Amino acid sequence: MAEVELPPLTPQQKEVSDLFVDRIRVAIKRDGGMSFSEYMQRSLYEPGLGYYVNGFSKLGKNGDFITAPEISEHFAVCLANQCTQVFDAIGKADILEFGGGSGRLAADLLKTLLQKNSLPLSYQILEVSPELQQEQRQLIECELPADVCSKVVWLNRLPEKFNGVVLANEVLDAFAVERFRIVDGQPERIMVGASDNSFYSYPAADDQIKETVSAIERDCDRAFAEGYESEYCALVAPWWQSLARCIESGAVIICDYGSDRRQYYAPNKPTGTLRCFFRHTLHSDPFARAAVQDITADVDFTSVAVAATEAGLELQGYSPLSEFMLSLDVLDHHKQKLQALDKREQLAATGQLKRVILSQEMGDRFMVIGFSKGIDAPLKGFSRADWSRLL
Ligand SMILES: C[S@@+](CC[C@H](N)C(=O)[O-])C[C@H]1O[C@@H](n2cnc3c(N)ncnc32)[C@H](O)[C@@H]1O
Repeated sequence: MAEVELPPLTPQQKEVSDLFVDRIRVAIKRDGGMSFSEYMQRSLYEPGLGYYVNGFSKLGKNGDFITAPEISEHFAVCLANQCTQVFDAIGKADILEFGGGSGRLAADLLKTLLQKNSLPLSYQILEVSPELQQEQRQLIECELPADVCSKVVWLNRLPEKFNGVVLANEVLDAFAVERFRIVDGQPERIMVGASDNSFYSYPAADDQIKETVSAIERDCDRAFAEGYESEYCALVAPWWQSLARCIESGAVIICDYGSDRRQYYAPNKPTGTLRCFFRHTLHSDPFARAAVQDITADVDFTSVAVAATEAGLELQGYSPLSEFMLSLDVLDHHKQKLQALDKREQLAATGQLKRVILSQEMGDRFMVIGFSKGIDAPLKGFSRADWSRLL
């Protein structure tokens, strides 16, 4: 990724970032280094300072990214269509959304389900960010009738038992990743060190990394070249273990940037997929703008499928977002919507739909994977295309 000039920090952002840097510097000095995964985890979630918990704007024009539900309601309408199929199969049930962002997905999904007379028993949001929780509450209370709002609850941990639909849009890409580099033919763990005025990364020999990376190489049928750098997420398997334990029946739909394992570790990605965003500027330096920028990595959907099926769920399908939305009748919804709009509004609405399902940005790089437990019929979202054979 070419070097880019980053927008300046506000004084408040600088204060938070400096405090975070001091704290990490102390930990690195004390321990003689820090794994990249610990650095990423703390950059995103360090209490009071980390990106998701420090109170600065994250979503929309003033934030760092715009997600599919923020572009238009088309995505939420499709998910509502998927939810009704699951509700029909298992009876009245709940929705659990991981990482609710601004609350836009929850609000549009509930509006659509209200129109379909197919509201869930409850809409549960598991959100790590206190300020986003607050934003979600405000948006939902502003846009939905009180009896629907009363169905929305915020959780701090997974429920004991769950029947219904679990959704996670652009959440798994925030899970901290372990980075590695091939040095003298061997995978080494990328560590973070601190110099007087910055952090830097360096590789260090590590048996556990060797084992994990060798397993990835075996899966991909090739050895990584000297200097090849990439990452893997060790948090996916334990996440699925705890999620699967509480699901009695229903479906899990995960949407994110990513690919199957062979594509993820392709030779044409010699530095992996780690990306950073600061005020909509994409760059590759995880140490710049520490704690006030988003750090994310693509999702290895093969690891997601393996972890979920090992935890007892059934893989239902894997497809690009565009195909998933077309399977869930996005065009019918769009045609109906256009009827109520004037020419200028129609153009704007069509532009939004194109942005979600046609663009290089999302439609084909953004993937959806679905799992089920206790449902006989295949999930409708994968009826047009199922690329599971690639996983
Ligand atoms: C990129 S935003 C996506 C928001 C929303 N799903 C959307 O599509 O607009 C990531 C969301 O996940 C939340 N989040 C980040 N890490 C999380 C975690 N480990 N568990 C649950 N939520 C998390 C963030 O606070 C934020 O709400």
